[in-house]
Amino acid sequence: MSLAIPRTGDKIPTLGFGSGTKWQWKKKGNENTAVTADNLLNTDPDLVNSTIEALETGFRHLDTAEIYTTRPDIGLGVNKFLQLHPEIKRNDLFITDKYHAISPHISNELPNGKIRGPYASLTTGLKLMNLDYIDLFLLHTVDLPKGLSLEEAWKEMIQLQKEGLAKNIGVSNFDIPHLETVINVDKDYPPQVLQLEFHPYLQNQSPNIFKFCKENNILIEGYGPLMPITKAKDEGPLIPLLNKLADKYNVTTSKILLKWSLSHGVVAITTSSKKERLIDSLQVYDFQIDEEDLKEISKVGNTHFYRAFAIKTLPQWDEQLKTERNVDNK
Ligand SMILES: NC(=O)c1ccc[n+]([C@@H]2O[C@H](COP(=O)([O-])OP(=O)(O)OC[C@H]3O[C@@H](n4cnc5c(N)ncnc54)[C@H](OP(=O)(O)O)[C@@H]3O)[C@@H](O)[C@H]2O)c1
Repeated sequence: MSLAIPRTGDKIPTLGFGSGTKWQWKKKGNENTAVTADNLLNTDPDLVNSTIEALETGFRHLDTAEIYTTRPDIGLGVNKFLQLHPEIKRNDLFITDKYHAISPHISNELPNGKIRGPYASLTTGLKLMNLDYIDLFLLHTVDLPKGLSLEEAWKEMIQLQKEGLAKNIGVSNFDIPHLETVINVDKDYPPQVLQLEFHPYLQNQSPNIFKFCKENNILIEGYGPLMPITKAKDEGPLIPLLNKLADKYNVTTSKILLKWSLSHGVVAITTSSKKERLIDSLQVYDFQIDEEDLKEISKVGNTHFYRAFAIKTLPQWDEQLKTERNVDNK
């Protein structure tokens, strides 16, 4: 299953295999370790194998990012897979990458006196991945290096798209004011995609973001779709309902959650190191779920607030979001 990306009409598979979260923490050592010159270049054989496994299983959409340090792993996995399967071509796959300011071990100042922005990031990244182009390139957050404005960063994104190095361009973890800033840079090149945290406990990463994207023709990708059964498993009210629905439809609770995400017309970015879970995720398309049950998940999920990724500028919206939803959990 796929959706059409606004403006280009390129097809994006609605389930993506992510190489961030657990993979980046494994590669860097822990959740708080900074990027170093070494981990940017190294590959983790487990991630390379899992990338191949995800592709063998049927995933056609991979998600990486500069800050994850997983570009070379994804690149190697993709190239090995394509060698093993000459019948499958590069343009059968959809690969997303993201730009982020890096410090303290990597300088954002280039030898020519310029700031290392998206253009320098992707041209380096493509070499690391041994790829000619990326299907989607995102500004990972609004956090940019000193001296580089959001407008300038977006102009570099447009340049990458014009040169065909990034087939599609977008942003991640942006709220409405920041989205408006990039939309106003060039009306012919608005962001095509917004990637954000999306699950029943966080149905709007920032106020009205979902509605804004629908109205402005921006495709949403949701990461963390399994949050109610992973990080938030011990605190949210959804587990009994998810178990009940898993019994009713004879599927896993993770499949119920993926179905819920997809039912909102978003692309879901998940991940697993276990082949059986990858296979299970892809079977999300093989069953149907009643509209009433999806609404019930939304309703119960909306009674609990949970943000797993406190990315810069977003937690400032928490109190407003909780007030709008009338939830008071911390
Ligand atoms: N743009 C951003 O700022 C941003 C932020 C976060 C994430 N992302 C992207 O989104 C991807 C996915 O994020 P996520 O890891 O939060 O997604 P997720 O799909 O909500 O969670 C995946 C995690 O859940 C575990 N899992 C899978 N099936 C499970 C099950 N049935 N029961 C219990 N645990 C299960 C997996 O571990 P096992 O290996 O044990 O299966 C994995 O660690 C990332 O890798 C990254 O590419 C982007």
